[in-house]
Order: sequence, then C-alpha cells, then structure tokens
Amino acid sequence: MPASQPNALTAGNRAAPFLDSSVGRKVVMAATGTILFGFVTVHMLGNLQAYLGAQVMNHYAEFLRGLLHGGGIWISRAVLLAAVGLHGWAALSLTLANQAARPVSYRAQTYQASTWASRSMRWTGVTLGVFIVYHLLHLTTGQAHPHFIPGDVYRNFVTGFQVPAASVFYIVAQLCLGFHLWHGVWSLTQTFGLAHPRYDPLRRFFAYGIAVLVAGVNISFPIAVLTGIIH
Ligand code: HEM
Repeated sequence: MPASQPNALTAGNRAAPFLDSSVGRKVVMAATGTILFGFVTVHMLGNLQAYLGAQVMNHYAEFLRGLLHGGGIWISRAVLLAAVGLHGWAALSLTLANQAARPVSYRAQTYQASTWASRSMRWTGVTLGVFIVYHLLHLTTGQAHPHFIPGDVYRNFVTGFQVPAASVFYIVAQLCLGFHLWHGVWSLTQTFGLAHPRYDPLRRFFAYGIAVLVAGVNISFPIAVLTGIIH
C-alpha cells in the first residue's frame, strides 16, 4: 500500500508512519465512524422519549446534563468533536490521495461494483457536517431557533419542527445520514476484517437495517410534529 504525503497532523508525530498510510487513515475513519455511529443510534433512542411527553423528555435531558456532576456532557462533547474532526480529516486526505493517484478523471465511469450510497459518501458527509452546525445552533444553543427557551428541550423540539423549512432540512439531512450509515457501516466492518462470504449477508443486513432504522425514526420526529402527533 503506497504511503501518502506527510502533513501538518502527522509531521513529527510518532504515529505518523501509521497515519501516513492509507490503511492507517482507513482505520482512523472506521474507528471514528464507529464512535459516531454509536452516538447517532443512542441519540435516536433518547429522542424517542419525545413520544412520551414533555416531562419524560426534559427529565432525561436534565439527567444527561447532571452525569458525572456535569462533566459527563463535556467529556462526550470532546470525544464527539475529536471523532468528527478526525473522520473529516481522514476522508479528505484519502480523497486527495486518490485524486493524486488518478489525475485524469475517467471519461465514462463504470459503477458496477459500487452502490449509489458508496458513490455519494462525500456529499452526504458534507451535508451532515452542515447539518450538525445548524442542529447545534437550532436545538442546543438556540441562535437558529425562532422561539428558543433555554432548558425546555421538549418545547424547543416542538416549536422547532413546526417551522416547515426547518423540518424539510432535517428530513433531507436524515436521508443523507441513512445513506452515509448504510455504506459507512458496511465499510467499517470490512476495515475491521469482517469481510467474508459467510458473514457478508449479515453485514449487508446489519448496515441496511441500522441505516433504515436510524433515518426512519429520526424522520418520524419532524413528521410527528407537523401532523400534530407530538404537540
Ligand atoms: C431528527 C433528528 C434529531 C433530533 C430530533 C435531535 C434532537 C436533539 C435535541 C433535542 C438536542 C438538544 C438536547 C439538549 O439540549 O439536552 C440535540 C443535541 C445534539 N444533537 Fe441531535 N437530534 C437529531 C439528529 C442528530 C444527528 C443526526 C446528529 C449527529 C449527526 C445529532 C447530534 C447532536 C449533538 C452533537 C447534540 C449536542 C449535544 C450536546 O453536546 O449538548 N443530532 N439533538
């Protein structure tokens, strides 16, 4: 496997030979992808409490904020930020290395071996990056929310999704998340050495199932608010 060019992140670092190899970057991508995949799954399960009403959801949010005397949320924020940063860095540097290895783009691309989900990883990933920034300004800090009430997570959720444009953006972003998870989970299980004719049907089922579950449940939230099921 050819080594890529060292860069600011890897220069002078003892892990540099590993990070400079494309295998190393794929492992970084898979490890951080696993963290992010775990987060979106747990986050989706937590948000299901919106169906149980204001008290349950706000109580859960308070519980999360109080974990480890308030330190738990900052630890998880630091881990998530590092995971998103490293995931983006590995994706960008692998893309640049691929382009450098193939400077002339193929005139007629052949896609037999790839799915739409795998070909769209870059732009679904970029859309998710934009979504995360908007989502934090919308439901965590409130600058992008017209009726934000600090601490009232349930009310912010409901009034946030009552704005159709916001709900549409959430739905589009969750579709991107579904496609990204579908191919991402398939790829990371391959990086971790699970590709085998015997396990491939299970891997395919798991990747597809988790993508449909997470995206489907997340899309149900804005729809439930817009149709008045959650109010
Ligand atoms: C329809 C789907 C989603 C809903 C309804 C939702 C809902 C929420 C809510 C209500 C909060 C605020 C929690 C609080 O202040 O206690 C929040 C925070 C957050 N969400 Fe989501 N979320 C969704 C999808 C996502 C996705 C796909 C990601 C990541 C890709 C994500 C990442 C985050 C992060 C990082 C926080 C900030 C947690 C913190 O540090 O306080 N969310 N979300």
